[in-house]
Amino acid sequence: MSYFITFEGPEGSGKTTLITAVYEMLLKSHSVIKTREPGGITISEMIREVLLAKGNDMDYRTEALLFAASRRQHLTEKVIPALNQGKVVLCDRFVDSSIAYQGYARGIGTEAVMEINRFAIEDYMPDLTIYLKLDPEVGLSRISSNKRDRNRLDAEQIDFHHDVVSGYNKLSEIYPERIKTVDANQTPEKVAEDALKIINQFLG
Ligand code: TMP
Repeated sequence: MSYFITFEGPEGSGKTTLITAVYEMLLKSHSVIKTREPGGITISEMIREVLLAKGNDMDYRTEALLFAASRRQHLTEKVIPALNQGKVVLCDRFVDSSIAYQGYARGIGTEAVMEINRFAIEDYMPDLTIYLKLDPEVGLSRISSNKRDRNRLDAEQIDFHHDVVSGYNKLSEIYPERIKTVDANQTPEKVAEDALKIINQFLG
């Protein structure tokens, strides 16, 4: 059986670490791939570079369109073929990121962002979404201490990151069946344990 599982959360919430742990665990029992947005394939990685490059003044709607374009290519080139082969697809971010970042935090509005994304994704939606909930101050301080370079979106003001988190919180209230919240303010081991409990229950 194929399943499309996405991972969402603010900067520094530990999605990458969690996906690696989930991937390694699921490999024992499933045919599984892990991938990310924006990116995961050549064209979308190229769009990622444009999106995350610092020192430009990108229009917010251009930003939303580029995320949607990157999503479209990644979906058709990588995600759908894997699902058609019966795989479990673990994806770092999907359309909820655009709703939280562009819809809520940039202020474009959820309906406008959803409209361009409907064009991009047609009827494809995740079967399950793990939302790593974290205070943005904690996430951003983790990035600084990991010495990871701050990209164009990381470098936004703290209010922007608070709006991202409230966007995610609203989404998790609107779609409680699909979006499951995990407290990301715990050790990576405990976050993985909590997320795996949800995923294993979902996969049966
Ligand atoms: P990453 O750091 O998780 O790889 O994500 C890259 C950045 O892009 C991150 O700041 C979140 C942002 N982003 C959006 O603003 N909208 C989107 O639709 C996606 C997928 C990511």
